[in-house]
Amino acid sequence: MKYNYDKSCLKGLGPGPFMKLAETRTAHIEQAADSVPTSIYRPNILAKALHPNVQYGVIKEIKEQPGAKTYKIVADKEKGTEALAFFRAGQYICFDLEIDGATIQRPYTLQSDPADALAEESSYTVTIKETPNGFAAPWILANWKEGTKVVMSGPLGNFTYQPLRDAKNVVAIAGGSGITPFCSMAAAIVSKNEDFNLTILYGSRKHDAILLKDELDAIASRSGGRVKVVHVLSDENIEGYEHGFISLDIVKKYAPAEDYSIFMCGPKGLYAYEDEALAPLALKPRRLRKELSGEYGDPSRNPKYPAKTDVETYKLTVRIRGNEQQITCKSSETLLVAMERAGIKAPSNCRSGECGWCHSLLVSGNVFIPEEPDKRRMADRKFNWIHPCIAYPLSDVIIDVPVANF
Ligand code: FES
Repeated sequence: MKYNYDKSCLKGLGPGPFMKLAETRTAHIEQAADSVPTSIYRPNILAKALHPNVQYGVIKEIKEQPGAKTYKIVADKEKGTEALAFFRAGQYICFDLEIDGATIQRPYTLQSDPADALAEESSYTVTIKETPNGFAAPWILANWKEGTKVVMSGPLGNFTYQPLRDAKNVVAIAGGSGITPFCSMAAAIVSKNEDFNLTILYGSRKHDAILLKDELDAIASRSGGRVKVVHVLSDENIEGYEHGFISLDIVKKYAPAEDYSIFMCGPKGLYAYEDEALAPLALKPRRLRKELSGEYGDPSRNPKYPAKTDVETYKLTVRIRGNEQQITCKSSETLLVAMERAGIKAPSNCRSGECGWCHSLLVSGNVFIPEEPDKRRMADRKFNWIHPCIAYPLSDVIIDVPVANF
């Protein structure tokens, strides 16, 4: 057989080493010193810098927003965090919070330019919106002051731009605090950490309730036309703004003539509306990306939820850290929320079924898991592993919660 390449570099390569892989490895292990290796490998240093288990920060600045506050967080060097980890625009971090005796985690999207994490004064910025009847947000808004110390996870999440999958032009559809990932993407485009064009269609009720308006305008003005922001007001019809909801007509009016992807982030009602409104575009699945936004909420609105007239209360047995604890869990709340309410420090991050951090074994009992946020692997489904952040009890339940990474 003739080859049209120089195969001299392959000399000495053959199947031999692969056939003896296990044997060679065993021989190396037997010859190795009986002590923990002290070598430090660069990939490990990089992996630790990009994916720290925990980061310590201090609130440096607080800015009031309409119905929200923006917090600038810097590294807490006193606690050993020299710099905050770099991230991809669109990712989030999880804060550890101790509220009324309960230890909980809450995810918030980073809105700042990823380049800020690499600056001399390494920083993140998050905006937290008032949520009536919320648990963590009202507590944060009332308690975080300048100088407050915070404990955070490393950056997490997959709602990021991927050039191999996404079009060069992105039309972002945002509602409420769903603007934060796009604020970060826009800043990253200006600082050249991302390379795509972004048209943001941002829905708010009134012009004086627009979150991060000044920040968005400032970024767009520095983007050389690569970032455009269109405000759509549902409750006001005033000059300079679009009126109504982010309809098909509005998308068609501002979307570029070339190929584009749609990224969506906002409340669940926005997704339901846009799914219907944008159906005529018949976008390929990879051209439509949605951020899974927080907790699933009331399971009874899912048509597949077994019909119940009243909220029931079940017994939830939790095996965690070698202990077994029995608590109560309402049918309307997730197993994770019930554990947090009972003061059990259960692992979690995204709280929306995506990250797998809360991964637990369903030892016995039945739970309802809505299909859409269920991102478990096939093997997990087969062997009864569940994500307690999206699992609702339908009977008494026993779960085993591993905490190896927590
Ligand atoms: S916390 Fe992410 S899957 Fe449950």
